[in-house]
Amino acid sequence: MGLVRQASGLPCCRRPFRNFVYLLSWIGAFICGSLLTLMSVDPMSCNIHQCTEKIKRIDVEDSNSWLGMWGQNAKGPGKSVFLVIIVISAPGNSEQRDTIRQTWLSEEKSDTLHYFVIGTGSLSENVNVTIQSEQRRFGDLLLLNNVIDSYSALTKKLLASLVYVHYNVKFRFLMKCDDDTYVQIPQLHKELKAVPYKQRLYWGFFDGRATPHKKGVWKENEWVLCDHYLPYALGGGYVLSSDLVTFVAVNSKYLKLYKNEDVSLGVWLASVDLHRVHDTRFDTEYVSRGCNNEYLVSHKQSTLHMREKFNSLKATGLLCKEQFQVRKSYKYNWNVPASKCCVRNDSSIP
Ligand SMILES: *[C@@H]1O[C@H](CO)[C@@H](O)[C@H](O)[C@H]1NC(C)=O
Ligand SMILES: *[C@@H]1O[C@H](CO)[C@@H](O)[C@H](O)[C@H]1NC(C)=O
Repeated sequence: MGLVRQASGLPCCRRPFRNFVYLLSWIGAFICGSLLTLMSVDPMSCNIHQCTEKIKRIDVEDSNSWLGMWGQNAKGPGKSVFLVIIVISAPGNSEQRDTIRQTWLSEEKSDTLHYFVIGTGSLSENVNVTIQSEQRRFGDLLLLNNVIDSYSALTKKLLASLVYVHYNVKFRFLMKCDDDTYVQIPQLHKELKAVPYKQRLYWGFFDGRATPHKKGVWKENEWVLCDHYLPYALGGGYVLSSDLVTFVAVNSKYLKLYKNEDVSLGVWLASVDLHRVHDTRFDTEYVSRGCNNEYLVSHKQSTLHMREKFNSLKATGLLCKEQFQVRKSYKYNWNVPASKCCVRNDSSIP
């Protein structure tokens, strides 16, 4: 008993004082902490209320300030369609555009809208005059005056198009293709009407094992994410549901642009819980795999090929005068690591 009293008795008398010191130091620490927090936000120039307001108003640094307020007119969506098609083109490619208008786009339905996308920054006077008259005649050019047209501007052209379409068109699906792409619009349209995914749809011919380009026009200097590109639908043609276009458009300030537009889109959408639908009827690689009557989308088509396909469809209902394969295809295997996704070992796959 005596031992216990001795041990606990003495500190017992000092406890109120000690508690008071504790309390003081806690209050001190709290005030110091708060002050430090405030000073780190904006030294000396705001009280708590003002500082909170400032934090709310600080805008994110814009990685794509070249977009400015592009496409964001006050009127909001003026047109409402089922499918919007953006054909990435170039100022000098009027022959390609005319051929597309006369062939596959001539089957465009009334609930479909298309744009040829052209960068018109720093155009020479005479090219500008030609472009302006083409626009007066057809009214289907999406002219990006904030983009200087070139190979290295393809990703900018894609992003600017998606932002424009997001703010100016009400639509369900978007198809992106190039001006050397042939699209069987009636089939595509029919399939889209019945597609199981109305949202979060990323539909095309996917690649998951492509290694980054180390030289040439498509060299990716700033690629650090992986030793392969992230799975992406090849750029000759792919389809996005409108919600994914919205995702890209509203996050445009954050997006990093890579040289390849299709690689870039694969990265932008990599974080999204979505349906990647690999379809061998998209012949959308950097070379065509041949001609197959099943192909909904055929890339790398000359104007001659386009007319041939169009005439064949008119005459026989079949895309190809003759079917052939010059490059094997693959079914994407989503159950293995992406580097092993895509084995070309079966010539029966279109
Ligand atoms: C091209 O012409 C249009 C219409 O005349 C004009 O608004 C635009 O500034 C011109 N662009 C260039 C790059 O000269
Ligand atoms: C092709 O390769 C895949 C993956 O290695 C394999 O599962 C499949 O059986 C092969 N197909 C043929 C026709 O060889």
